[in-house]
Amino acid sequence: MEIDPWSSAQSTDYDAIVERFGLSRTEGLDLPEPTRLHRRGIVFAHRDLEGVLDAQRRREPFGVLTGLMPSGRMHLGHSMVIEQVRWFQHHGGDVTIAVADLESQATRGVGLREGRRIALEEYVANYAALGLDPERTQVYFQSSRPAVQRLGFQLGRRTNLSEFEAIYGFKGDTNLAHVQAPLVQAGDILHPQLDEHGGLRPIVVPVGVDQDPHLRLTRGLASKSNWFNLKEAKSGGLTISLSVQDENAAALGVGPQGRLNKEQRHSVFASITAGLSNMGFSDIRPNPKHGTVDVPSATKRDQPAVRLMLLRLERSLGGMGLMAPSSTYHHFAVGLDGDKMSSSRPDSTIFLADELPQVAKKIKRAFSGGQPTVEEHRRLGGDPERDVPFQYMAYFFEEDDAVLAELAEAYRSGRLLAGEMKQACIDRAEAWLGDLAERRDETAHMVGEFLATDAR
Ligand code: TRP
Repeated sequence: MEIDPWSSAQSTDYDAIVERFGLSRTEGLDLPEPTRLHRRGIVFAHRDLEGVLDAQRRREPFGVLTGLMPSGRMHLGHSMVIEQVRWFQHHGGDVTIAVADLESQATRGVGLREGRRIALEEYVANYAALGLDPERTQVYFQSSRPAVQRLGFQLGRRTNLSEFEAIYGFKGDTNLAHVQAPLVQAGDILHPQLDEHGGLRPIVVPVGVDQDPHLRLTRGLASKSNWFNLKEAKSGGLTISLSVQDENAAALGVGPQGRLNKEQRHSVFASITAGLSNMGFSDIRPNPKHGTVDVPSATKRDQPAVRLMLLRLERSLGGMGLMAPSSTYHHFAVGLDGDKMSSSRPDSTIFLADELPQVAKKIKRAFSGGQPTVEEHRRLGGDPERDVPFQYMAYFFEEDDAVLAELAEAYRSGRLLAGEMKQACIDRAEAWLGDLAERRDETAHMVGEFLATDAR
């Protein structure tokens, strides 16, 4: 099983994906003021979200980064990421949004000028209308942010074609644009941690699960570049160990011919010990010769803070000090026809700028979970799980969980007919989209404010 981020055919076997790629479930996480996407399990999985939630609770800085591919019109599916971004922003995150114009040019043949136009008119205009705060949102273009490209290039040293083959299933005839794009995306994801882009802090990347291969790659690249590893010790506690590489050998006290430079090694260990005791640990067991430090009383909960301390130390010694990004994943909304949602099939989705009569027409034709005849429907009831109009209310248009539960119950019992479910969806879709169009007009003048200075 592989995930191809450039294919529109995505697996929706989410259990298998969680299992196969080691995602964590969001179920049971303690989220402040969860949105309907959280409450309804639509945001279903994550990697390392705890570190971000922790920063949130302590009111420490954290960043949110996501990206958009400027290649078509913005539809409902795209709005799900923005809703999560808004939620993180509301809870203290600073927001960076990458316009993947280089990726779009290389993999879809969209020129940079056209990519810019699409990004501003289709996407950023809707981000403003959807309520992102321009004061705390920075939209940039891959093509005009050298730090992103530089970082991507630099990180390329830490991977190879075999890894790309394993992650993406690349073969000999794979176009090299598909090799470059993930490295640039790794640059997108990691660069907000650079000092000139906000500095070291946890970064969360909310995406559809189709983007997870890029996160796996990026997390691997970040860890491979780290000078210190942090692990739970078998006997309990945490163990820090040096990761000696060519470029950091001297700084970590490994001299020519692998000889130990005791003085240098001890100075690094003194810094680690000082960092740990500042955090309040007293039982610290350094073994400079082996390059390890055991902290028996530390727990898994201490990991994020210990890691931060080590990354700061790495930076002070001359390393990049990159933290592996966190991520969240949402289920894909089903297409109106019951198949996959895709901009290339306009009838499979609702675009945020669709006219209302058009929207009503699309919903009337949507795949229904009702029975073939009214008589059968009254007798057997419908299936809200398979009913696309009901699903669209759950994903997009109905905030109230109780109202939604009532609709589901009425449908199952046969009291509510398929046509009535469609009408309920149409009413809400019209209100939601009408509202959005109004806000788009009101916020149109703000679009420029979302652009970072290098994007203006
Ligand atoms: N590859 C993403 C897409 O196809 C766009 C993207 C580029 C992105 N850089 C990113 C998404 C960084 C998340 C984070 O939609």
